[in-house]
Amino acid sequence: MGGVGKTTILKHIHNDLLKQQRFERVIWVTISKEFNIMKVQDDIAGALKLKEDWPREGDKLRRAAILSEMLKNAGKHVLILDNVWDKVSLEEVGIPEPSGSNGCKMVLTTRSEHVCKYMGCKVKPLSEEEALMLFLNKVGPNIVQSPTIMPTLKLVVKECAGLPLTIVVVAGTMKGEDNPRIWKNALGELKERIGKVEGVEAEVIERLKFSFDHLKDEQAKHCFLYCTVYPEDFEIEKDELIECWIEEGFIDDMGTRQEMKDKGLTILKKLEDNCLLENITDGFYQPGIKMHDAVRDMALSITSMNPRYIVQAGLQLTEGNGVQILRKYRLCITP
Ligand SMILES: Nc1ncnc2c1ncn2[C@@H]1O[C@H](COP(=O)(O)OP(=O)(O)O)[C@@H](O)[C@H]1O
Ligand SMILES: [Mg+2]
Repeated sequence: MGGVGKTTILKHIHNDLLKQQRFERVIWVTISKEFNIMKVQDDIAGALKLKEDWPREGDKLRRAAILSEMLKNAGKHVLILDNVWDKVSLEEVGIPEPSGSNGCKMVLTTRSEHVCKYMGCKVKPLSEEEALMLFLNKVGPNIVQSPTIMPTLKLVVKECAGLPLTIVVVAGTMKGEDNPRIWKNALGELKERIGKVEGVEAEVIERLKFSFDHLKDEQAKHCFLYCTVYPEDFEIEKDELIECWIEEGFIDDMGTRQEMKDKGLTILKKLEDNCLLENITDGFYQPGIKMHDAVRDMALSITSMNPRYIVQAGLQLTEGNGVQILRKYRLCITP
């Protein structure tokens, strides 16, 4: 299930492996719904720091052969593939079959029920107690001390069905809220939303939409939805995103550009606090954010009902086919 904590577990494994130094290399590759062999190959090549010998363009087969050779010579390594959706042909990508003899390992996560059953391994939702602890941790200390809110809060946590993502998003929305009537209303809203849909994925989307609707601020809603124009799992630079928001006209004209940027930063902070966007700043790169794939599914379900952008992910637009696609939707590029 999306949001159950697969990537989080994998990050722990990744960091442990780096600390232990049992392997010469630990390579992390995020694979998304829009599986693209060239991108996976580029990501692995990037992790192996292939530069001169690596053909940026061209033939997948040739790239697969080069990659396979490089991985065979890369010493003992672990390849981590996060979020595998469909069958991935290791051979097609250029990943040598991991075996006992070459000392290489592969770890992967997937949403595929079939693969989980086959591997006999599945990430379970949090227990009631764990869910409550995570919720209280996110919702803030003044709520923890309120005996009038606690019974409703516990029922709200139950509605999150033990899914960490939903828990942090709903808790983020309710952070600091100390009015018991607003808590009761939140509980009613969550129940009503979930009652309206069928299927686990649709339920997750509805719970996440709760947070979107509670943003109230229309500017923040536009800014949030805009993030869907980036591909899944894309690491978005904060400064660049705020510039785009300003150019799109989501932020009111405020006299100076700096003031508008500050407003953008404030909106970004609110979206981060509500856990609708994840901060991925690690000190090495420019400050960045990421939209969780399940949150992006929720945002896309909103934009598809009320289109402001056409988001068709995975088309691998080039200058050539871009114009054809714009024509298909009867759009034109204005200067
Ligand atoms: N065990 C956990 N404790 C606290 N927070 C968690 C836990 N597992 C996941 N989360 C939080 O839930 C959100 C979704 O987790 P993630 O690992 O991205 O899910 P998945 O990869 O299964 O879609 C993240 O914000 C993460 O920080
Ligand atoms: Mg994930």
